[in-house]
Amino acid sequence: MKTLEEKYNQFEQKIKEATQGGGSERIQKQHEAGKQTARERILEFLDSGTFNEFDMFVTHRCNEFGMDKTKTPGDGVITGYGKVEGRLVYVFAYDFTVFGGTLSRANADKIVKIQQLALKMGAPLIGLNDSGGARIQEGVQSLAGYAEIFHNNVKSSGVVPQISCIMGPCAGGAVYSPALTDFIIMVKDTSYMFVTGPEVIKAVTHEDVTKEELGGAITHNSRSGVAHFVAENDEQAAMLIRELLGFLPSNNMEEAPFVPTTDDIHRQDESLQTLVPLDPNKPYDIKELIETILDDKNFLEVQPHYAKNIVIGFGRMAGQSVGIVANQPMHLAGVLDIDSSIKGARFVRFCDAFNIPIITFVDVPGFLPGLTQETNGIIKHGAKILYAFSEASVPLITIITRKAYGGAYCVMASKHIGADVNFAYPTAEIAVMGPEGAVNIIFRNKISNEGERLGKIDEYRETLANPYKAAELGYIDEVIYPKQTRFKIIQALEMTRNKTQQPPHRKHGNIVL
Ligand code: HXC
Repeated sequence: MKTLEEKYNQFEQKIKEATQGGGSERIQKQHEAGKQTARERILEFLDSGTFNEFDMFVTHRCNEFGMDKTKTPGDGVITGYGKVEGRLVYVFAYDFTVFGGTLSRANADKIVKIQQLALKMGAPLIGLNDSGGARIQEGVQSLAGYAEIFHNNVKSSGVVPQISCIMGPCAGGAVYSPALTDFIIMVKDTSYMFVTGPEVIKAVTHEDVTKEELGGAITHNSRSGVAHFVAENDEQAAMLIRELLGFLPSNNMEEAPFVPTTDDIHRQDESLQTLVPLDPNKPYDIKELIETILDDKNFLEVQPHYAKNIVIGFGRMAGQSVGIVANQPMHLAGVLDIDSSIKGARFVRFCDAFNIPIITFVDVPGFLPGLTQETNGIIKHGAKILYAFSEASVPLITIITRKAYGGAYCVMASKHIGADVNFAYPTAEIAVMGPEGAVNIIFRNKISNEGERLGKIDEYRETLANPYKAAELGYIDEVIYPKQTRFKIIQALEMTRNKTQQPPHRKHGNIVL
């Protein structure tokens, strides 16, 4: 029989073995590739000393292809719970040093256990991904494991925040779980996401494509819209997730954490008075307005490199977390197209699911006309943002800074689809379309010279393209000076804090997918 000391030594030895993952050679390879190990990533991400690891001694149960001789304690994923800024979070990190972080049945069981705990306890779930997908040697067992992870991702959607960080090559099943989560952060130069890699593509479609082009951080942050953030390295990715979590509640029954600020709620910014140019064709940067009005001018932009004609992100006002949705006149004049509609819609639905009030800044000339947009389905994709705003039951506060034309006026959190407080600047132009287009249609065969046309445009602008027609009808609650924006929004947030809205019972709506 072993002595107590021997038992403790055995325990220590087992821990040592488990913490070595795939061994020193593979760990060195991981470091040489500019990547941290799974364990290092978790420790970097969580508050110091808070990590509690589960299932450290779980091993895979596959005996085919000589696998019985290659069992690593913990297998290819590290799971557990800890704290971020003192708040509970659950975390799992694939260990690339063990079979390329691929998913065995045992790994899947570890992740599912953590997913179920996160859901039961109402705390965010963070996945740090670095995985070659399904472990080929395990066949359908691995596929079953993925399917269960996906199922739990969906069950948790809208209940607890789920954040995925892509920190290495991720293929096959390793990309579909992140795709089902709320936010994806990718690390530049070391992370990839693809359903099938370059070699398979070459064999099937004969296309030559690099990993970076196919699924690198820049591709997914700027072209596909799959990812939401790009980080320079593993350390920055960990900081980004922590920052993001700070704006979110732990679950859908809670409010986001209140963060006290010394930033004066009455602060007026004279610079805003001249931010919106008088010339409606001149662009300006909506981010200047957003940053100016938020607490400490702190704005965490989401998807900054994708569909830049709409800006989305998080900030705080008087300590309360808010979601921002804004047309960006600097890019495609702030027009709504397919990509920006989808980007805005998904963000609105996230904020609504997690009790985060939405502040919408409107300067939009309409939906983007064109054959490509129409044939690619601007009708169904544009309907997504309309649907999202219409179903949102969180406080909705809207500020029209300049153009609010046509259908885009209706869509961008207008009073008519449920906004609670609607402001407009004196520079707002709320009409069916811009003055030039309107005059060209109304007076098509009735104008004889350019002077007359310009006169009519001026007349239209004065008569219809202003905020006062809408204000006369009560569609705009208040016309405000731009410099008042911060305090006006803070008061509106306070006024709408106890908003309750009970929609009729239904299983779920049928959003236009
Ligand atoms: C078992 C795997 C593996 C896999 C990699 N490895 N992928 N083992 N099953 N799917 C092992 C390698 O043999 C190697 O083991 C170690 O992991 C590291 O892999 P390398 O190839 O040396 O690393 P690297 O060059 O960085 O390339 C990483 C990679 C590549 C891009 C992930 O390995 C790759 O393309 N793998 C296959 C990806 C794939 O097709 N997965 C299946 C997807 S199907 P050693 O012992 O040498 O260290 C899927 C189905 C679910 O996931 C779909 C649900 C919708």
